[in-house]
Amino acid sequence: MAKLKFAVFVSGNGSNLQAIIDAVKAGTITAELALVFSNNAKAFALERAKEAGIETLCFLSKDYATPQSYERDIVMRLRELDIDFIVLAGFMKIFTAYFIKEFPNQILNIHPSLLPAFKGKDGIKDTFTYGTKIAGVTIHFVNDKMDAGPIVMQEAFAVADGIKLEELEEKVHQLEHQMYPKAIQLFVEGRLKITGRKVTVLDKSKHS
Ligand code: GRF
Repeated sequence: MAKLKFAVFVSGNGSNLQAIIDAVKAGTITAELALVFSNNAKAFALERAKEAGIETLCFLSKDYATPQSYERDIVMRLRELDIDFIVLAGFMKIFTAYFIKEFPNQILNIHPSLLPAFKGKDGIKDTFTYGTKIAGVTIHFVNDKMDAGPIVMQEAFAVADGIKLEELEEKVHQLEHQMYPKAIQLFVEGRLKITGRKVTVLDKSKHS
């Protein structure tokens, strides 16, 4: 069977992108990473993609009159490349309902907190400042509300007394890099079944 093709959307450093690139190379993600899209021309993630020989694309929203015309151009390129699903990895832009409808239940996102706590762009800092005793990572499907789609995977760890923000960030990122390739591979294997808000991971033996 032909491999699924996917695009990773980034805005910044791209350490999650790197973990995904490495997993594709290692064969632990059995899909083709066909495109890295960025809304930020200076994103270091674009360098990582180029280094790995992956096609990159960068459109700036300021060059478009409306969010929809911006997204229409992105969708056009994704269709040309026959992209089956999208992985958001530090993509700091919110899609309109139009884009989400183009890829229903085919967009994954990673968030650096235990959702629904600490939505938004500062998930780790907000976890740290609040003083919670556990922290963690959430991977979820994207719907039309921010950081609110059905949850695929969550992992938590205890926040050590006296931990510094930078240390917490490091721990969260390490966990992200372990989790995201696993969740992506579950999607690739067709093992994520969504029923309302609930995502069930289907048994591999029953499914493949
Ligand atoms: C990650 O913490 C991710 O959870 C959040 O943005 C950050 C991106 O980091 N959505 P990187 O660009 O993958 O290094």
